[in-house]
Amino acid sequence: MKYKNLVNGEWKESEKEIKIYSPINDEELGSVPSMTREEVDYAMETAKIALGGWRSLAVVERAKYLYKAAEILERDKEIIGTVLAKEVSKGIKAAISEVVRTADLIRYSAEEGLRSVGEIVEGGSFEAASKRKVAMVRKEPMGLVLAIAPFNYPVNLSASKIAPALIGGNVVLFKPPTQGAISGLLLVKAFHEAGIPAGVINTVTGKGSEIGDYLIAHPLVDFINFTGSTPVGKRIGELAGMRPILLELGGKDGAIVSDDADLEKAAKDIVSGAFSYSGQRCTAIKRVLVMESVADKLAGLIKAEVEKLTVGDPFENADITPLIDNRAADFIEGLIEDAQEKGAKALTQIKREKNLLWPVLFDHVTLDMRIAWEEPFGPVLPLIRIKSLDEAIEICNGSEYGLQTSVFTKNIVQAFDIAGKLEVGTVQINNKTQRGPDNFPFLGIKGSGVGVQGIKYSIESMTKIKSIVIDL
Ligand code: NAP
Ligand code: G3H
Repeated sequence: MKYKNLVNGEWKESEKEIKIYSPINDEELGSVPSMTREEVDYAMETAKIALGGWRSLAVVERAKYLYKAAEILERDKEIIGTVLAKEVSKGIKAAISEVVRTADLIRYSAEEGLRSVGEIVEGGSFEAASKRKVAMVRKEPMGLVLAIAPFNYPVNLSASKIAPALIGGNVVLFKPPTQGAISGLLLVKAFHEAGIPAGVINTVTGKGSEIGDYLIAHPLVDFINFTGSTPVGKRIGELAGMRPILLELGGKDGAIVSDDADLEKAAKDIVSGAFSYSGQRCTAIKRVLVMESVADKLAGLIKAEVEKLTVGDPFENADITPLIDNRAADFIEGLIEDAQEKGAKALTQIKREKNLLWPVLFDHVTLDMRIAWEEPFGPVLPLIRIKSLDEAIEICNGSEYGLQTSVFTKNIVQAFDIAGKLEVGTVQINNKTQRGPDNFPFLGIKGSGVGVQGIKYSIESMTKIKSIVIDL
């Protein structure tokens, strides 16, 4: 199947194409166009032309397209979910849930857009100001939003940019991940079928390493909304110049386990947090910092949970499935070997078949090991034993990342005290690190990002205020 780009309301091929294979079994799934710079220019120009008409629609009119697109996605959840499961090796149940979650996200974006009105500010609060002075504070679109999404949620993390951008009156140039491009294009197909006007969403497929810089530096782009790795995010920061950006990047989320925690619950949450989708989540728990006094017990409980995980085929809903590619598996293997050489104790077998890695649990991980600091984006979990909660906070804050941290303790005052000291966007108390629900603010600091997502916050990020002042 030859998939095409949506540009100015038409599905277009390019001379060159990229073949997409499934990471599960190398099945050829189809091809997507590899766009040229001239084709990118045309997509940008037609989007800019569409901006005037789209931003001048009443928000209730824009919302109708979003509701319709959500309905279509939900109708096609099994078709799209099946492609998604094959394309990024995600469990079929989780893949279909991703499509349903996305339909909900699009609907909620429409609702939030309807709620997100401007305000009137009256003068008179300051001596020098006339009380007859009034400011009408309006929210206006940024213009052309460049949305770039990662492979791990090719439908949901794409829509989490597209829907809030559109409801805010922006037009979107969407670049899906190459591995995940078919799923991304099927998402856009739902908007097209919903009748969204030509040019309001245009798509660009092609390898980020080849067209990424050109897209980011393009003078017609007004706002860049990116989710992906920290190195690419940093590059975007360099190229963006004065233009506003929203970056959601990598993480090294820790789970701090106090000696008074409910260890059974902590072990279950940690394993689900660390190993869902084989650890390929920005919010995966990527290290456990456990008080020495309960470390043996927690390690045993986590090991027992890891041993329950199934490994294999996404279409049999295995917990651990083939990773996105061999390169990812090689990188993780490097982290595993480094940890073994430096004396970490593997509590599970270490086994690999091509890009399928069995889940690995390491105990006695020390701070000189790469696995203590680097993001594996795969099924490996290090346990670091700590002597005090202050030490755990220091290790967490020593990370280049600042996405989320979990704190497991029965002492709620202690939990809030730790939460206040952690340098992260979100602290989860007695739960795994996670993004949802999608109306919550979601952000990373330091190497984990810039700006805030979450439906309402994404709309705010992708709109700007205009104040119109008059003396009545
Ligand atoms: P990635 O390699 O950074 O790719 C992300 C997107 O950027 C893809 O669409 C990719 O296109 C594109 N890209 C690559 N090079 C580019 C360049 N020079 N200029 C512009 N775009 C470029 O990340 P990934 O492997 O897909 O995703 C895994 C990473 O994303 C992890 O670090 C994870 O933590 C992070 N992530 C963060 C969040 C969050 O919300 N904080 C959520 C999900 C994932 P191609 O596919 O064509 O290369
Ligand atoms: O990979 C990063 C995603 O934003 C994580 O989302 O916590 O809902 O799995 P999630």
